[in-house]
Amino acid sequence: MKNQFDYLVVGSGIAGLTFALKAAKSGSVAIVTKKSKLETSTNYAQGGIASVVGDDDSFQLHVEDTLNAGDGLCHPEIVELVVKTGPERIRDLLELGVPFNRRHENPELFHLGREGGHSRNRILHAQDMTGQAVEKVLMAAVEEDPNIVVFENHMVLDLIIQHHSMKSGSVDLYQQDICRGAYVLDIDGDQIHTFVANAILLCTGGAGKVYLYTSNPDVATGDGLAIAYRAGAKLANLEFVQFHPTCLYHPLAKNFLISEAVRGEGARLIDKKGRAFMAKYHPLKDLAFRDIVARAIDTEMKTSGDDCVFLDISHKDSDFIKDRFPNIYQKCLSLGIDITKDPLPVVPAAHYMCGGIVTNLSGRTTIQNLYAIGECACTGLHGANRLASNSLLEAMVFAHQAANECKTHIGSWHNRMLPEVPDRSAKLSNSHEGNNEMVLIAHNWDFIRRLMWNYVGIVRTDKRLALALNHIAQIRMEIREHMPKIPVNSDLVELQGLALVAELIIRCAIQRQESRGLHFNVDHPGKDESSLRDTVVFKNPAEEFLSSVPIKTSEQASAPQSSALSFQHR
Ligand code: SIN
Repeated sequence: MKNQFDYLVVGSGIAGLTFALKAAKSGSVAIVTKKSKLETSTNYAQGGIASVVGDDDSFQLHVEDTLNAGDGLCHPEIVELVVKTGPERIRDLLELGVPFNRRHENPELFHLGREGGHSRNRILHAQDMTGQAVEKVLMAAVEEDPNIVVFENHMVLDLIIQHHSMKSGSVDLYQQDICRGAYVLDIDGDQIHTFVANAILLCTGGAGKVYLYTSNPDVATGDGLAIAYRAGAKLANLEFVQFHPTCLYHPLAKNFLISEAVRGEGARLIDKKGRAFMAKYHPLKDLAFRDIVARAIDTEMKTSGDDCVFLDISHKDSDFIKDRFPNIYQKCLSLGIDITKDPLPVVPAAHYMCGGIVTNLSGRTTIQNLYAIGECACTGLHGANRLASNSLLEAMVFAHQAANECKTHIGSWHNRMLPEVPDRSAKLSNSHEGNNEMVLIAHNWDFIRRLMWNYVGIVRTDKRLALALNHIAQIRMEIREHMPKIPVNSDLVELQGLALVAELIIRCAIQRQESRGLHFNVDHPGKDESSLRDTVVFKNPAEEFLSSVPIKTSEQASAPQSSALSFQHR
């Protein structure tokens, strides 16, 4: 059976929910999300949302800080758009009831936090659980909206792409791929459903799970990137993976971030002997850009042989710490660390993907009717390194832009005749019992994540990148040749996507023969002005997508005419 909506939103974080609420004013919306509806990266965001709301701040300063972080690769018109419309999007959240912290001495004013690379205090926050507060308020509004239906435990397998071309003799006059919907795995029901929509929005978040150590939740497997690539969309700048300098180092603390706001309130990084080390690396010390702090910690750990470094905020008033960071305080205490008294052990971990699916000012991808918003998109805001707390803002701004564009099309969508979309809905007879090859999935998941951490991590070399590419090609071949008989399941679909995304990150990293922003290669330690461009990657006509999913998904996805990976101005 086909499900038909005006809008199909994939993902239930800040990007998907913001778009859904705005779009529901003009049409029907389906949100599909692969786990429970609140299991999103947004829900784990601690620090906050950067925006110009303070008296001592200005759009120009926020623009400059963003451009400085981006190290030459930000698209200035996008930076201006996000910074200048940011305060309007903050107002949207206030109207919905997000409880941003206010100043004790003057509750008319916001309490603004500071993070690395910001020249002013400009981070709006709800204690140290900003993402959770935002997600809760947005989800409550979504649940009250009769035009929105949320499908939990539903995972997109592939997009439905229709290829249009008009020829005059042998000349191609017009060629465009159009997205018509998606084939979706109902994980609990063991069924594939066909969703048809006028606009399809990928809001699938990041790909931190491609690395062994990450601050991201388990859902961050880069699904949107893999889906978009297979459909023929352009992706860019995947070599720029942001490693957060401080994740809690403790065997029982899976993926627990220690917000940069802790350093913003005066915490210092120290080694095992209690020596502060950041002054050796940058004049801004502990509040230098993230790439600098993460590399400094990496160097300290490699030089000393220690497993971690430490973050110390114990010199601050203990009531202040408990009030400002209740979540971090409680989590650490539950593991036996009292941060009001003791330094806490930290290590860097993969945190944010600055590259993604190429979009324009409206969040539209290179495929008609297909949009990408949030971490899975590459809008041009972040360039080679994202300024802390700019990402929730970006998601809201582009959700607004996309909803505005869609609103102008909705009348024409309703009045046109559409070609029939093949209905591939099917009941699967999925039983893992008796299948002794499920170990292949678990092994390859682990292998990819270790490979990426060790060979394509914070510091890269030509040799390690070349070896990583060989390894990943081997794994992708194994997935193609040995896994088609394993019944379709979400782990397998994630593994296919993860392997593809890992390969794309490596290929982009190999292409960038310089060190810039988050990409640091010891064999090319300097910047090369001729590389002041985005690394664009798209599907090679020779590459076949061989899926174990028993459906043909991307209908005649068009074969791009030029090379599959290149430096390009978009
Ligand atoms: C943090 O709280 O340190 C993370 C904020 C961000 O990544 O923008």
